[in-house]
Amino acid sequence: MLPIGPLMIEHRLIERMIRVIQVRLEDIKTHNAVDPGQVDTIIHFIRSYADRCHHGKEEDILFRALKDKPLSSEHRRIMEELVEDHKLGRKITLSLLEANERHKKGDAAALSAIADGFRSLVEFYPKHIEKEDKHFFIPLMDYFSPEEKEALIKEGYEADSRLLHEEFVDMVKSLGVMK
Ligand SMILES: [Fe+2]
Ligand SMILES: [Fe+2]
Repeated sequence: MLPIGPLMIEHRLIERMIRVIQVRLEDIKTHNAVDPGQVDTIIHFIRSYADRCHHGKEEDILFRALKDKPLSSEHRRIMEELVEDHKLGRKITLSLLEANERHKKGDAAALSAIADGFRSLVEFYPKHIEKEDKHFFIPLMDYFSPEEKEALIKEGYEADSRLLHEEFVDMVKSLGVMK
């Protein structure tokens, strides 16, 4: 297994969620309605899994390790572009969250903002994933020794296990329970 293996497996699950979002987008067009609970679930997936867990491992482990490597100018350019993409993904998700909150309060105009957020996610993620899978991840592996690759895999697994605990600590905090 290469360090990019788990990241590419995660891409497949993100793509499945993007297909779900696509269906929900069609539903909005057909029924002029959306279930706010389902929008919350989608937002939770994008924020916790796609961003915090997946983009987190890309930025804090893989990209961090690449900063010490003699990257080609093309690879450095793509890496910077990917970090900017992640920022855009966070912005889209925040707008979607705000639209869903407005929608829950009865703001009728918020439905089209939810549809916009869904459309942006459907446009954003497949392109971003293709850039990583087809033009970045595989050639990057040549910058690392077998030992470094092993260490990166281990670091990824440790990050995943930390995250699981953080998620539940955050859940308790969100309910307002003080220490
Ligand atoms: Fe990414
Ligand atoms: Fe990715």
